[in-house]
Amino acid sequence: MSAPLPDVLAVVRGHLLGPDTLVRAVASGRRRSDQPRWKRVEVRYVDLRAGRRLQVTSYDETQAFTANYEVRPDVGHSPAAVAVDELLAEPFGNWHVETTTEQHQVRVTKKLEGLLHTSRRTEPAEVDRGHDRDKDRLLPEDDPVFRALGLADANGRLKPSRQAKYRQVEEFLRLLDSSLTDALDKGHLRTPTAEDPLRIVDLGCGNAYLTFAAQRYLTGVRGVPVHLVGVDVREQSREHNAGLAAELGVDADFVVGSIAGVALEHDPEVVLALHACDTATDEALARAVGWDARLVLAAPCCHHDIAAQLRATPAPAPYSMLTRDGILRERLADTLTDALRASLLRAEGYRVDVVQFVESQHTPRNTMLRAVRTGTPAGSREEYDDLVATWHLAPRLAELLGTSS
Ligand SMILES: C[S@@+](CC[C@H](N)C(=O)[O-])C[C@H]1O[C@@H](n2cnc3c(N)ncnc32)[C@H](O)[C@@H]1O
Repeated sequence: MSAPLPDVLAVVRGHLLGPDTLVRAVASGRRRSDQPRWKRVEVRYVDLRAGRRLQVTSYDETQAFTANYEVRPDVGHSPAAVAVDELLAEPFGNWHVETTTEQHQVRVTKKLEGLLHTSRRTEPAEVDRGHDRDKDRLLPEDDPVFRALGLADANGRLKPSRQAKYRQVEEFLRLLDSSLTDALDKGHLRTPTAEDPLRIVDLGCGNAYLTFAAQRYLTGVRGVPVHLVGVDVREQSREHNAGLAAELGVDADFVVGSIAGVALEHDPEVVLALHACDTATDEALARAVGWDARLVLAAPCCHHDIAAQLRATPAPAPYSMLTRDGILRERLADTLTDALRASLLRAEGYRVDVVQFVESQHTPRNTMLRAVRTGTPAGSREEYDDLVATWHLAPRLAELLGTSS
């Protein structure tokens, strides 16, 4: 039942200002015709040497910003209370609040009322207030999955040569975590159960670093039942990954097949495609649309197809200076390819963000297309048609979707 929004937010405030009982809270989404300053904010308490602090991590399109606030229950307007009031004043559409004994889900309706759903935990949750870097990580370095994947040594210490890969896995999990929470909160994704776990496919999984890390994080840390399938053209990948799954006791299937042609027993709800080469990313996106996937995370790899098309045809006036030099032409090809992919997905009823998922010093292939199925087509077909006609482009994804101009 909906209630006046100030009353519901007062309940949220009470929980956020519970340094002993708050496990974590997440604010996300927006209200009708109002946009919060941040895309998402996470709140929890951490124990620092100076004492317990309210930690607020705010995410914009590309980065996370963390700030810690003093907790002074004896003072009406302690820094923590001021920070909480500022957050509650932001027009977020959803609040997800976990305490040691309850979980609260708040959604702001179109009439700007608050819908509060509260469920009691069967057992009190433990609170992690650690602040060391390891505890801030979604999967600690000594998790068995990193040893099995060869990123950590036998003592669970990260190998210096594998730091970049570990960082990439961690940042990918962060994006997966926030995308999943958001999609579940907004009802774009059903709540999976042990009998009917979330069906995830990783297309072009290679050695399945991200597949295994995702499985381990979602089931072990978040308690989300998932069934994973990894697809790769290489038999060697399948053998290696099936062996690892057995070693880790993980319920995952690995199949040899092409992204474009693989037949899966059940249509996946979440599609991952990370650094699938060139137009293999287009194939992955087209399969996701065909399966009606709810959430798609695709980090494109190289963009040879559009780069070759730019090379083949003179640039339209007055843009020739953008394509004269190879390096600029390649960067333009990257941007055009991903902008056109995003536009095509929007037209298919996906909400799409193009974000940076890991700092460029860890990998130059650091763009992520994040698409959530809303069912409402968006964007302008006219602008898309204009762009491809001006540059004489034939995006592979449009061909695969059968929507070429
Ligand atoms: C650069 S690796 C990325 C591996 C993994 N996703 C990761 O991010 O660590 C690309 C993988 O995609 C596979 N691949 C490329 N094109 C494919 C296709 N059309 N169908 C299936 N697998 C493909 C390759 O065999 C390779 O293992």
